[in-house]
Amino acid sequence: LELVLSLMAIGYLSGTWLGALTVCRLAGASDPRQTGSCNPGFSNVLRLHGRRLALATLAVDVVKGMPVLWLAMRLGLTPWELGLVGLGVLLGHSYPAWHRFRGGKGVASAFGVMLILTPWVALCCAVLWMLLAWHMRTAAIASLASAAMAPLASLWLAPEFTGVVIVFTLLVLGRHVLNIQRLGRGDEPPL
Ligand code: G3P
Repeated sequence: LELVLSLMAIGYLSGTWLGALTVCRLAGASDPRQTGSCNPGFSNVLRLHGRRLALATLAVDVVKGMPVLWLAMRLGLTPWELGLVGLGVLLGHSYPAWHRFRGGKGVASAFGVMLILTPWVALCCAVLWMLLAWHMRTAAIASLASAAMAPLASLWLAPEFTGVVIVFTLLVLGRHVLNIQRLGRGDEPPL
């Protein structure tokens, strides 16, 4: 149990590294938490500062959780234990202690975690995300649909992780309440 909790704590710490903040700070661009959707993530950085900074943001947020999950996997943790480590990463990203617990929505970080745990599920989600983002031009629709589809894909491709994936899905959906309200009102900004 100590091992799992330590890895979960390392996951949390890795998750608190918000790609959007580092990238925008290094590039001298404005803080994405102040404008647009105020979300420190790929989509808001794309709308505010363009493709280059958005892709750099995405890279950090996807990659940051991977080392600890890879390590946890090598140490032979069970699916639920691995899920706790992954949950640590998502909680760190969405509720970072050093940023007054105000973080991102966890889409990219969940994708990174799942690339290690359930790579085929992660790839299915990524394909769906890109197709929807391309056709609908709305990041939140792509994220909501991918998150909702993830447990089904897991049931099919990695059934032992379905419970874990459901937890990730609930966390990501829960972070999109404002987007869901905006979609309902029809004023969600396009990508
Ligand atoms: O990936 C995050 C996306 O689903 C929503 O972000 O900035 O459009 O609220 P944003």
